[in-house]
Amino acid sequence: MTPSDVKATLSFSDGSPQMELPLYKGTIGPDVIDIRKLYAQTGKFTYDPGFLSTASCNSTITYIDGDKGELLYRGYPIEQLAVNCDYLETCYLLLYGELPTPSQKEEFTNRVTNHTMVNEQMQFFLRGFRRDAHPMAVMTGLVGALSAFYHDSTDINNPEHREIAAIRLIAKMPTLVAMAYKYTIGQPYIYPKNDLSYAGNFMRMMFATPCEEYKPNDVLVRAMDRIFTLHADHEQNASTSTVRLCGSSGTNPFAAIAAGVACLWGPAHGGANEAALNMLEDIQRNGGVAKIGEFIKQVKDKNSGVKLMGFGHRVYKNYDPRAKLMRETCHEVLNELGLHNDPMFKLAMELEKIALEDEYFVARKLYPNVDFYSGIVQRAIGIPVPLFTAIFALARTVGWIAQLNEMIGDPEYKIGRPRQLFVGATKRDVKPIAQR
Ligand code: SDX
Repeated sequence: MTPSDVKATLSFSDGSPQMELPLYKGTIGPDVIDIRKLYAQTGKFTYDPGFLSTASCNSTITYIDGDKGELLYRGYPIEQLAVNCDYLETCYLLLYGELPTPSQKEEFTNRVTNHTMVNEQMQFFLRGFRRDAHPMAVMTGLVGALSAFYHDSTDINNPEHREIAAIRLIAKMPTLVAMAYKYTIGQPYIYPKNDLSYAGNFMRMMFATPCEEYKPNDVLVRAMDRIFTLHADHEQNASTSTVRLCGSSGTNPFAAIAAGVACLWGPAHGGANEAALNMLEDIQRNGGVAKIGEFIKQVKDKNSGVKLMGFGHRVYKNYDPRAKLMRETCHEVLNELGLHNDPMFKLAMELEKIALEDEYFVARKLYPNVDFYSGIVQRAIGIPVPLFTAIFALARTVGWIAQLNEMIGDPEYKIGRPRQLFVGATKRDVKPIAQR
């Protein structure tokens, strides 16, 4: 990061000593005001719950321009990566900073492929869950449990440990998600098959049975792979910030990623794809397109507590570029499956059209985000709704790891430990219970 010629001066109306704060410039995006010395020099904290105006780190991985609706992974536009690369190439890019050469891609793919099996003991964790457990509850447990199996790679400060942990996590997430799914439907687990692509292997572990050979549909596999790419990383979102904060204590990579899985589950974050599909199903059940107006009225009524799930974003104040690509993927998959008249897709497009013309949404710059169409395409592929967020977690694992490793690799990193504005009771004496 480059010191800026511009300085910020902080002065106080009560005549307290003013302070000069340095500014830093990035390669693109907003400058930052360096407040690291603020408390030491003024005895005051900044106050920014929800971190609307706070940069938690400097990073070289992903850049988002919310106003333009632009998303770059290591400088490459998501639109180009989604069309010209597959997910493992994107993983390589996010982890190492450059797109792989053919030989680098082959070597990386072989490494990932040869780590796709999980320890046979992992199946016994699943047996402890009810069959109707939410897949994200299962995934939070399974990913954390991985740390019990890899004592050879839990020292987060050891670069070799970080590297093999990254490969293991990227390789095993599809196996674990497929196991979580098979467990809920009472079918046997399907082992990974090394001659299949990453996404093809996942589709086979999800939908094959021991009773007959499973031939993945190339269009659906490509769509699944693109869904992984679109979800791979997204700057300092809630779950990535969770992973960074968790990892900053020096805990092992598996535990830090498990924390990210837990955070992603929330309906305001990765859980929105499941919530968006459930919302569309509710509207469909209550009258479909004809009832959209009534639903929008509910959303605009603050007391209803109803949100248009899959819309709005902390950073994007324009169309989320991933939503556009997801809608295209939707078209491809529905056409491939002869579902181009899928009422859910028609309802989603009509809802989007109405919302984008409605002043309430326009004024608040609420556009469809990545979660609005992802549920429709996953449902068409045959993914059950409760598994949507687990697939988001599968895809985001590489981003979490890349961001975690970037932080740990920075010699200046410290354990994250925010402060507070205390508004509670001042010191008082305990009265014995007989006097309370
Ligand atoms: C993801 O951060 C990331 O990068 C996340 C993500 C990633 O890849 O990691 O992109 C993935 O999480 C996408 C977002 C998925 N969530 C949803 O689709 C859930 C619905 N969206 C909202 O909950 C909301 O838009 C958030 C949480 C996404 C963003 O919330 P903010 O930035 O805190 O904005 P806000 O809640 O302050 O909203 C501003 C205004 C408010 O109205 P006013 O108080 O100004 O009158 O917009 C309204 C909100 O009530 N609003 C919505 C709305 N989202 C915001 N109103 C109706 N429906 C919505 N979806």
